[in-house]
Formats: sequence, C-alpha cells, structure tokens
Amino acid sequence: MKGKKFFAAGAGAAMAFTLAACSGGGAGSDPDPTGPDEQGAVTEDMSVGVAMPTQTSERWIADGEAVESGLTELGYEVDLQFANDDIPTQSQQIDQMITNGVDALIIAAIDGTALNSQLEAAAAANIPVVSYDRLILDSENVDFYVTFDNYNVGVQQATSLLVGLGLLNQDGSEGDAEGPFNVELFAGSPDDNNATFFWNGAMDTLQPYMDEGTLTVPSGQTDFEQAAILRWQQETAQRRMEDVLTSTYVGTDLEIDGVLSPYDGLSRGIITALESNGYDGTVEEGFPVVTGQDAEIASVKLIADGVQYSTIFKDTRKLAAQAVTATEAFLAGEEPEANDTETYDNGVKVVPSYLLESDIVYQDNIQELLVDSGYWTAEEVESGTAE
Ligand code: GAL
Repeated sequence: MKGKKFFAAGAGAAMAFTLAACSGGGAGSDPDPTGPDEQGAVTEDMSVGVAMPTQTSERWIADGEAVESGLTELGYEVDLQFANDDIPTQSQQIDQMITNGVDALIIAAIDGTALNSQLEAAAAANIPVVSYDRLILDSENVDFYVTFDNYNVGVQQATSLLVGLGLLNQDGSEGDAEGPFNVELFAGSPDDNNATFFWNGAMDTLQPYMDEGTLTVPSGQTDFEQAAILRWQQETAQRRMEDVLTSTYVGTDLEIDGVLSPYDGLSRGIITALESNGYDGTVEEGFPVVTGQDAEIASVKLIADGVQYSTIFKDTRKLAAQAVTATEAFLAGEEPEANDTETYDNGVKVVPSYLLESDIVYQDNIQELLVDSGYWTAEEVESGTAE
C-alpha cells in the first residue's frame, strides 16, 4: 500500500501538522503556522477524497466541482467520485480513497448509516472525515459536519406552501385566504438524516393549520413513513402522487390545492402526475401549489413559468467553501470553527457543525437570488438547462 505522500517527503512541518491532526488538534496542539512557502509545500503533497452521491441531480455535480476547485486552488490533490446512488459503489470508492492514502475525506453519504466500516478504517489511518450536507450516522468517526439549517429548510418549505395558498403573505403576515385547502405531503429518503429535519420543520409549521381544519390531507397519509420517497427518486414521487390521486381524488369532487415537496426532483415528478390527471396551467390559473428544494435549473424554469410555486435555494458554493475551510483546518492540525454544537446527534455523538442559511425562491425573486448572485444565468433560467 502506498504510504502517505507527506510521510515519504518527510517534511518536518508536514509531520507536525499531521501529528496534530491525528491527536484531534484542539487548542494548544496547533503548530506555529508556517509561512506561505512552506504551507504551499505541505498542501501540494496532500490529497483529499471527495465522495458525492450521484450525478443524476445537478446540485451534487455542482457541489463536487466546487469542492474540487476550492481544494485544488489551495494546492491539494483531489479524488472526486460519484456513486450513482448505489451504496456498495460509494463504500468501495471510499475504501479505495483510504487505500490510496488520502489525507482527508469529504463525504455526502447515500445512506447515512452505511459507512461504518469505512469510517473505522479512516480513523485507524488518522484521516479526518467531514460529513457533507448529509450527516453520517452511527459512527464515532465523523469529525465535522457542514450543512444548512435543515429544520429551517423544512419551515421554509411549509411557509412557501402557506404563501402559495394565500394563508400567509411573503412577509409572514396573515393572508386573505381562508381555506379549507386540500394538501398532500411528501418527504425525502428515509435513509437521509436531512429528510426528517425537513419533515419536522415543515410539519411543525403546518400542524396548527391542520389542527384547526384550514388544511386537510384527504389521503390521510400524514406519517413520515407514508410520505417518504426512497433515494429521493423523481419516478417514485410521480408514482405515489398518481396513486394518491387515483385512490382519493379521481371520480370525486375533491381537488388538490397544494403539495408539500421537499426536493425539486420530487416536485417535477409530482407536477407530471398532476398534469396527467387533469390539472394544467399555472398556479395563478389554479394549478396546485407545489414546493421544492435545491433551485435546480429545470425547476427554476418551472417557477419562472408559474407552474412550480417555490423552491429553497441552498447556495452550494457556500457549502463547498465551508467544507474546504473545515478540511484545511484539519490538515493544519486545527479544529474547524463550528457554529452549532448541539443539533446534530448522529446516534453516537453530537457532531460539531457549521450551518448555513437558505432562502425561499418565488417567481418574483429568481432574478435577485439566483441570477444576480451568479448561481444561474438569465439564459439558463429561460431555457431550463444548465450550460
Ligand atoms: C438532501 C439534500 C437536499 C437534496 C436531497 C436530494 O440530502 O439536503 O438538498 O439535494 O438530498 O438530493
């Protein structure tokens, strides 16, 4: 097995950094930072493994590329892998990275509970592990977590549903509508820790309206297990929406007014199912209010066209930058700066985290949030495809 490059190089400073990283760093163990030349020499010999779940969703491609370029700019070698949403593939990729002697790992897990043996091997080799966006569960060996405020993402999803129905205004004040409205609820993949956070944030927001009868769920499917869509698959969401329409709405007077959807891929499956069951036009013309997440370009176009109502923008550039900063800290023998040390219990320990904020995207702020910030160009929004 190839030894770690910086050990082979035998650079004193590199050794000091490494030992500090091995001991978990922390105050007092930080070696005096070296000058830019020496620092450069250290990073050039270091490599980082970046494991992303899938390329079927453009956000993970953007995440992977942003992490890769951030690390490359700092002089690290990068091994970026995508796993086609296949758990054994991801496990093998991470095993291989460890065998290849990477100095740090950044992992967006497919199944948060499936990486235990990889993380044990990483710990044995003193490789720090940064959990990326999705928390890795049931392991002592997760060193840091970078993500968004996932509970608040769920609150924002539900809030945008309420705004779309007219029960709230965008500024949070009470809207003119009275309801009652018929809504259906979707959740994310049950093996993704985020899915529960989104669901809890959304349900805490919707529950009072359900309790007073302003919102009803005619299918009766109000449990997470009933609403969850394994692996966040668009086709599965489409099928579930079709099943719910067939079992509850078709052939009755009931009409569906809104759908809580926690991810744009699911939203597009839901919209397709609605369209093939007689719903058409724009939200303004009466199409059900469908929420989302990730500001995927195909959904941003649907929002611009008035068909999907909203999405949640999580700026993956900021998340990638945060992952790079945390990794850099570990490799310098320091502890990354956390802004949350309470929320993310992975079943074994509370993982120190850095949480970023997200924004609700509506038709009228696409320009400000997504185009002016350079996330998508006006042409991409117009065409619905990333260039
Ligand atoms: C979650 C992530 C969401 C969305 C979803 C499906 O873990 O937080 O932003 O991307 O996966 O990919």
